[in-house]
Amino acid sequence: EENHRESLMIVSGYAAKFFHESLLETEEGQNIGLSYFKERGFTSETIKKFELGYSPDQWEAFTAKALKEGYQQQFLEETGLSVKRDNGTLYDRYRGRVMFPIHSFTGRVIAFGGRTLKTDKNVPKYINSPESEIYHKSNILYGLYFAKKAIRDEDNCYLVEGYADVLSVHQAGIENVVASSGTSLTVEQIRLIGRFTKNVTILYDGDAAGIKASLRGLDMILEEGLNVKVVLFPDGHDPDSYVRLVGTSAFKAHIDKNRKDFILYKTDILLKEAGNDPIRRADVIREIVESIAKIPDSIKASVFIKECSHILEIDERALLSELNKMRLNKA
Ligand code: UTP
Ligand code: MN
Ligand code: MN
Ligand code: MN
Ligand code: MN
Repeated sequence: EENHRESLMIVSGYAAKFFHESLLETEEGQNIGLSYFKERGFTSETIKKFELGYSPDQWEAFTAKALKEGYQQQFLEETGLSVKRDNGTLYDRYRGRVMFPIHSFTGRVIAFGGRTLKTDKNVPKYINSPESEIYHKSNILYGLYFAKKAIRDEDNCYLVEGYADVLSVHQAGIENVVASSGTSLTVEQIRLIGRFTKNVTILYDGDAAGIKASLRGLDMILEEGLNVKVVLFPDGHDPDSYVRLVGTSAFKAHIDKNRKDFILYKTDILLKEAGNDPIRRADVIREIVESIAKIPDSIKASVFIKECSHILEIDERALLSELNKMRLNKA
């Protein structure tokens, strides 16, 4: 069993090296992959640290080399690096894509995300490794290996959506950053963060999907007993595009200036949606109290009730009785 997992990690490590070398040392990799990464503003240091790569635009470049070097078909298939044809032969899953290796939190490569360079809407933007014995998506945070020390030191974890967000934010000197990588945030991922800090700051994309995901994530984080803040980016921007637009110091200033605790964030968003309709405003209040009711620590919850009563100009006792009703219903 351990041997099996080890074999999968060895072949994944070999693949990361293969893709990294194709990026840096082949003409195709340099012309296509490397120039893409450079255009996106990633430095050589970032490319090296995160072992970014390029998969040649051929059907069997990787698979043929791996087989020749003695890597077994079984492990190539199980990691999803190679795919089996009907006739039993293998071909490369990743072709002509820039490669983001995904590391376990001890630094072993366990999976990949491969980004297309095409703008064709019918081509999936990212192809990711399938689940395997070494890769359980819901338990993995992209970048954690490179972030964990800074998360401890800063006693805070920035949570972003994507691979490029991790790279750009890290490169900007904010190293306590991880991504949930598209899958909506899971309880396991939150508990993983909880081993290093109790404080999470969500930096999701400033679009409708990002806002919706942030509201959902926020409730889950509260439920796990962690503290959560949120920073919104201007519509159409994600942390990666925004830091490239404004530069590192303005990016940091944006975070400091716009960091909101979850009540303020949620209130702002929901009240904007509700407008002046009193019934909808009442619903907003109820939804906020619902979030507060998720906080396991009742003293902390009562502090937030107080804040909520100030923001919404509602009598604290009314909010508390609503809170108690919800807690009773939950029990
Ligand atoms: P986004 O669509 O926001 O992409 O998805 P992005 O990270 O900003 O990518 P760039 O900047 O265009 O390169 C956020 C994350 O969701 C996952 C990836 O992990 C991505 O980084 N995702 C997205 C997929 O797994 N597959 C997809 O097709 C799209
Ligand atoms: Mn096994
Ligand atoms: Mn997005
Ligand atoms: Mn992006
Ligand atoms: Mn994005």
